Amino acid sequence: MAENLIIADGSKAERYALLYDQIKALAADEEDMIANMANIASMIHQTFGFWWTGFYRVIGSELVLGPFQGPLACSRIAFGRGVCGTAWKLAETVVVPDVDEFPGHIACSSASKSEIVVPVLGPDGSEVIAVLDIDSAELATFDEVDKQWLEKIVMVL
Ligand code: SME
Repeated sequence: MAENLIIADGSKAERYALLYDQIKALAADEEDMIANMANIASMIHQTFGFWWTGFYRVIGSELVLGPFQGPLACSRIAFGRGVCGTAWKLAETVVVPDVDEFPGHIACSSASKSEIVVPVLGPDGSEVIAVLDIDSAELATFDEVDKQWLEKIVMVL
């Protein structure tokens, strides 16, 4: 069992490492952030088969839906609301193993069971300019491996 877990973790980290190299190469040739967000969402989504993968951009006092893959989602989220608004407020990644246990979780889809939201920081490294939100149809999908690699991936933007 322990051995299986190690192999499973290794393969996830390996896939992220490969994905990161592809994303870096792609972004090196494209300076438009929306275009890069669109391809990053697509590549993460295709690689791992998540339920929903996408970006919300900070516009004024709200998060506004950006490029994504997956079913219809809410267009606007207020500061501090839901998992996305919380990650924005804290300027920190939020990992939610069971969305039903997260007070104020915004259910765009009842199929979503666990979630990770990673803030995207602006050029000066302090201001949150967007968040990457990923939803899974399974409980407890996201761990430290996802957190570390996704934080590295959004720095490409
Ligand atoms: N569940 C998120 C809302 C966005 S959708 O899942 C795409 C939240 O609580 O912030």
